[in-house]
Amino acid sequence: MDEDPFKLSLSNFLAKETQDPLQAPPTFSKWVRDSGRASELYEPQMLSTADARTTIEYDGKPQSVINLCSYNYLGLANHPDVVAAAHDGLREYGVGACGAPMLSGMTDLHRELERAVAEFLGREDAMLFNSGFGGALGTISGLLRKSDVAILDNRSHLSLRDGAILSRCRTEKFEHNDPASLDVALSRHQGRRRLVILEGIYSMDGDFGNLKELMDIAQSHGASVFVDEAHSMLACGENGRGAAEKFGVEDRIPLIYGTFSKAFGALGGFVAGSRETIQYLRFYAHPYVYSCALPPVVVAAILKALEIGRRQTELRKQLWENAEYFHSQLRSLEIDTGSSTTYIMPIVIGDRGRLYQVGHELRRRGLWVAPVDYPAVPLNRVCFRACVTAKHTRADLDEALNILADTLAPAALKSA
Ligand SMILES: Cc1ncc(COP(=O)(O)O)c(C=O)c1O
Repeated sequence: MDEDPFKLSLSNFLAKETQDPLQAPPTFSKWVRDSGRASELYEPQMLSTADARTTIEYDGKPQSVINLCSYNYLGLANHPDVVAAAHDGLREYGVGACGAPMLSGMTDLHRELERAVAEFLGREDAMLFNSGFGGALGTISGLLRKSDVAILDNRSHLSLRDGAILSRCRTEKFEHNDPASLDVALSRHQGRRRLVILEGIYSMDGDFGNLKELMDIAQSHGASVFVDEAHSMLACGENGRGAAEKFGVEDRIPLIYGTFSKAFGALGGFVAGSRETIQYLRFYAHPYVYSCALPPVVVAAILKALEIGRRQTELRKQLWENAEYFHSQLRSLEIDTGSSTTYIMPIVIGDRGRLYQVGHELRRRGLWVAPVDYPAVPLNRVCFRACVTAKHTRADLDEALNILADTLAPAALKSA
């Protein structure tokens, strides 16, 4: 095995090494050992809420950190009214739904949330999934058939790609956000049912999907479009109806998909659309049919989060103000944030060894950002992902910037 563990990545351990598929490849286990402290940056234990400042375990001890990791974009995960609603839901319904929605896991609270989501998005109906991942996977695999073609942006989330693979349809990729590349991909499959799969905000790059232009191309080919609004729902658009609202293309999207795990601060996914399509999907989306429904306590929290997210538009305003401030400051430090234009910002390091060394330094200094390694991003774009929220104060952001400046950009600081 190569001596330098940073020359290997997760893409290297997919070959069969043993006769037993239940045994991890020995080279993988050795690689994890050889990588020393790199793996300690993953799966950190939070010792408190996912607030703008929180406490995580680091080096075996509690460490106070500025949290640029959690998707708690509007601060709803620990909003007192959301927590109170969860308490009420818990008291009334207990913990679990204790069954899949089709047979036994549906409560009146679930129905209320379905109606609330449908009404919020101006659709006839909505259905809930117990995870965003399952929602995307179930929707794509539940609607596409073997003779169809899924045409995905090459930065698509794995839930979307896995959904296409599960449907056994043909899959095609096009260059990220590139209308010309999409045009070529669509032309290759004329005469077949084609679904173009886009995202409102790309979760690693933090840029918006080029929705308008890509939809024009899809429409010119008679292809349908699906938009994953996981990171954009409730946090984008004047009323929180996602990137589609922001770019004025809601009417062109028959089916809206989002998650409750980001701006809603909870867990789960949903899809909203016409009554007929949702009814069909309820029978064909396996993660819906064959998996336990969301716990009612979570549904109660989401209902309150939706109400607050709709009403308190100032939360969205604050989120975007914070994102713009942080962007402008990172730019002035000459820190590479790629194509990000949102509250999700990659801080590109581009060297795997340095990523982990700097990662430890940042944790030690009290800044919590997530390392994103190859193959989740290209090798020369390995990065930290920073997520700004509405709840970060200017002092939080300035302190985070100071830590980043000290750790990453001493040259920029000296010249300031
Ligand atoms: C674009 C995108 N879609 C779907 C998901 C899955 O959502 P969840 O975490 O709610 O399962 C994610 C998760 O981060 C995502 O980034």
